[in-house]
Amino acid sequence: MMPQPSSRITGRDHGQFLNKGPIVFKNFLTSITRNGISLIGTGLAIAGLVLIVSLFVMEQLGFEGGPYLGILTYLILPMIFVTGLILIPVGAVLYRRNLRRRPGGESTPLLPIFDLNKTKTRRWMMIFVGATMVNIVIVAGATYKGVEVMESVEFCGMACHAVMQPEHTAYQRSSHSRVSCAECHIGPGADWFVKSKLDGAWQLVAVTFDLYPRPIPTPLHDLRPARETCEQCHWPTRFVGDTLKIKKHYEEDEANTELTTALLLRVGGEAGKKSSGIHWHVDPGVAIRYRSDETREEIYEVEYTDEDGAVKLFADRKAPEEGGIWRDMDCVDCHNRPSHNYKAPDFEIDVALRDGLIDRTLPYVKKEGLRIIDAEYASHEEAREVITTELTKYYAENYPDLATDRADDIRNAATVLGDIYSVNVFPHMKVWWNTYPEHIGHERSEGCFRCHGKRLRTAEREQISRDCDVCHSILAEREVDPAIITQLNP
Ligand code: HEC
Ligand code: HEC
Ligand code: HEC
Ligand code: HEC
Ligand code: HEC
Repeated sequence: MMPQPSSRITGRDHGQFLNKGPIVFKNFLTSITRNGISLIGTGLAIAGLVLIVSLFVMEQLGFEGGPYLGILTYLILPMIFVTGLILIPVGAVLYRRNLRRRPGGESTPLLPIFDLNKTKTRRWMMIFVGATMVNIVIVAGATYKGVEVMESVEFCGMACHAVMQPEHTAYQRSSHSRVSCAECHIGPGADWFVKSKLDGAWQLVAVTFDLYPRPIPTPLHDLRPARETCEQCHWPTRFVGDTLKIKKHYEEDEANTELTTALLLRVGGEAGKKSSGIHWHVDPGVAIRYRSDETREEIYEVEYTDEDGAVKLFADRKAPEEGGIWRDMDCVDCHNRPSHNYKAPDFEIDVALRDGLIDRTLPYVKKEGLRIIDAEYASHEEAREVITTELTKYYAENYPDLATDRADDIRNAATVLGDIYSVNVFPHMKVWWNTYPEHIGHERSEGCFRCHGKRLRTAEREQISRDCDVCHSILAEREVDPAIITQLNP
């Protein structure tokens, strides 16, 4: 939009000029189309603008385009639009530089001269300022919507679809499926917002050029402290007290015998002035930090400072004396999988049997199901195929009558097993059943026992308790019809 001198309208006086709108417009057009680069810029800006406006109008009319349309309308097209706007003056300057290089062109100044005493120039300035204001509104609007798009679950989970597919799938099955990725991964405030956008830019490059690690490494060493994210929604010291947990397991026998475990879990929290139980660790008066290896699975030292400032240091004598990483303990040291919790095959089959998704009257379905899905297949499709063939083959060989009579139940069980595989294992990202250990409890990893164990001791040989009653009372452990259940449900 650089004004260019044009012989055709020089010398016209004020009155004449005001009435010559079309000529001004034509002159404007020549100035931005006279050189190739500005011409491309103009083309891009106009195409971008027309598309942004039409897609925006379509969206307002209720047309559902899905996340990719949002990314196109508010991220990609605005970038094209702005690139176009930048190319226009760049083209004009380059064009003038070229003119100057020609014989006799030395007198052409590199930049246009603005003489505000000339009516024409003032007129141009008005057009320029007006157009710039419109552009600012468009770019600001698109930026606002663009940020909204970038913060959306669809963008985080789908823009990098193949990469984030494991996290996105697990997330959709978690109790946080309505909490956006940004609420845990970015949280409120400008500093983390900027940091996340810088990280995000790198991630886009990594995805484009296939530079990201498979699987995505865990833990996240630069995750924002839980104080600033989880605690936006969860009150750390809310008193939960004892929670009764009833778990169903199934034996790997012909009858898939149902076993019940009942635990009274001492979650605790702050009651009155005193914290107790498991949530005691996050009492504001308690400070625990620990030194561990990169993975946080091997803990070398734990330092606990109580309200009065007394310090207890528990150390593993065999651990390396130097190195490792110190970290302040927070929610994520126990709840490391609040949203991306990949379950164990055993656990998943138990849930499917409990809920009747897999028919428990199929002989050995637990044992065989487990054998077939606890394996590495090249893709979800291959997994589903092999699972179906293997399960059908097993029944055909061992229970030929049942294989024909209950072909539907068998096929259904195979489908459910395939589903279980597909939401927990992601071959293209090298995510297998045990890639991401869960730290709640001590079943899927050492979990609580990383600290609560024999290895770590104070100088006085005191250790962090591993008594079975510190964290829970075990009311029944893998029992058939335990008395406690009959008491609760007479
Ligand atoms: C309830 C909070 C929460 C939400 C919501 C959430 N995450 Fe996470 N995410 C975490 C925590 C906590 C970790 C870190 C685990 C660790 O460091 O041990 C994590 C880790 C990750 C990792 C690293 C790999 C791994 O599993 O450790 C990726 C990638 C990720 N999240 C992507 C996402 C995406 C994409 C979304 C939205 C679809 C999302 N997250 C939503 C809490 C959350
Ligand atoms: C934006 C709000 C929000 C944020 C941020 C958030 N949560 Fe939650 N969380 C919820 C809601 C809502 C529920 C209850 C879901 C339900 O009842 O189904 C919940 C449930 C839970 C539960 C119990 C259910 C379960 O999956 O075991 C745990 C544990 C939990 N959150 C931990 C965390 C941790 C750890 C973080 C930080 C990494 C976090 N939450 C961040 C809103 C949030
Ligand atoms: C020492 C480990 C540990 C720490 C640290 C911890 N939690 Fe928990 N939390 C647990 C355990 C264990 C449970 C019970 C899990 C279950 O019910 O299966 C639990 C349960 C919960 C629940 C569900 C409570 C309910 O009503 O059933 C929420 C929500 C929760 N924690 C949030 C948090 C938040 C937020 C933080 C950080 C401020 C935190 N936790 C820190 C171990 C911990
Ligand atoms: C980073 C190390 C660490 C981890 C991980 C850890 N704890 Fe602890 N825990 C401690 C320390 C230190 C104490 C205090 C020991 C003492 O005072 O002798 C403690 C004390 C406790 C207590 C007693 C609280 C009281 O009322 O005095 C309970 C219950 C407990 N932990 C449960 C758990 C559970 C459940 C988990 C796993 C979900 C867990 N802890 C994981 C370090 C840890
Ligand atoms: C530091 C705390 C802590 C200690 C000590 C502890 N546990 Fe646990 N235990 C847990 C937590 C937390 C869970 C998980 C509850 C859940 O899944 O929500 C659990 C779960 C269990 C389960 C249920 C597993 C399942 O899924 O069926 C059994 C059984 C169990 N513990 C046995 C024991 C025994 C036996 C001991 C003594 C050697 C012990 N625990 C010591 C914290 C502890």
